[in-house]
Amino acid sequence: MTLSTETLKGPAAMNNTIQTDSAATDKPLFEMRNIVKRYGSFVALNNMNFHIGRNEVVGLLGDNGAGKSTLVKMISGINPPTSGEIYVNGEIRQFRSRADSEGAGIETIYQDIALVDSMSITRNIFLGREIVSHFGFMDHKRMQDVAIQILGSAVQISGIDNPDKEVGFLSGGQKQAVAIARAVHFKRNILLLDEPTSALSVRETEHLLSYVRDLKREGTSSVLVTHNLYHAFQVCDRFVVMSHGTKVFEARKEDTTIEEVTDHVIRT
Ligand SMILES: Nc1ncnc2c1ncn2[C@@H]1O[C@H](COP(=O)(O)OP(=O)(O)OP(=O)(O)O)[C@@H](O)[C@H]1O
Ligand SMILES: [Mg+2]
Repeated sequence: MTLSTETLKGPAAMNNTIQTDSAATDKPLFEMRNIVKRYGSFVALNNMNFHIGRNEVVGLLGDNGAGKSTLVKMISGINPPTSGEIYVNGEIRQFRSRADSEGAGIETIYQDIALVDSMSITRNIFLGREIVSHFGFMDHKRMQDVAIQILGSAVQISGIDNPDKEVGFLSGGQKQAVAIARAVHFKRNILLLDEPTSALSVRETEHLLSYVRDLKREGTSSVLVTHNLYHAFQVCDRFVVMSHGTKVFEARKEDTTIEEVTDHVIRT
């Protein structure tokens, strides 16, 4: 798979405008305050505060079970908080469904890749956001054309020549690339990447990381969840370390070192 800046020039990117309400530009793009998430009696997030700035890549770090994916799923709307507030451009918002985060221009590459094996690559890319004709029918031809374009220009997945191919026949890395292609196509303001490189080769990983940097230049902020602190240090502007559902360390890249961040990740 090869990611290139070409995708930024695609049709999706042209429609992608950042919400630059001048009164709101000093506010973070996204902010959560005092977030609590309970699963029964288990507290997965405990008074968590987190924000995503403009033109910023945030590294979300922490040991297994720290609460990173729980937080990512909350920002993507599929995991509503038990209590706490969420703000988009300084305005309080309900985040109770994918539609809520989509409205805020947020796209997610989930850790547990949410693809349907029995459907084609094209159907997976457009799942739930199908292009329909004037008569309300799915426009298969147009979706296929767009799928070919994004697979060709944004994500060149090795060994994929046909977007009609069922996802169940793809390798782990190829599936991950389809999930990346989908999020990259629909993203507008914020891209959430939860362990996006786990199935990628070294070369593909480097492409993805440089792509995240390109996105920042184009005005899309990202949150990168990773256990690889070298990857995090390559692309992130700020680090947030979580442990047991809460933030235990936060620093901008220029104010810390890889040793210090590592220490906070393993200490907990
Ligand atoms: N649906 C759920 N019901 C109950 N507990 C859950 C649920 N989802 C997550 N948890 C628990 O919440 C905690 C945080 O899980 P989460 O997946 O957010 O961790 P993580 O930081 O992403 O870890 P990893 O690095 O292993 O991906 C874990 O203890 C997990 O067992
Ligand atoms: Mg996780």
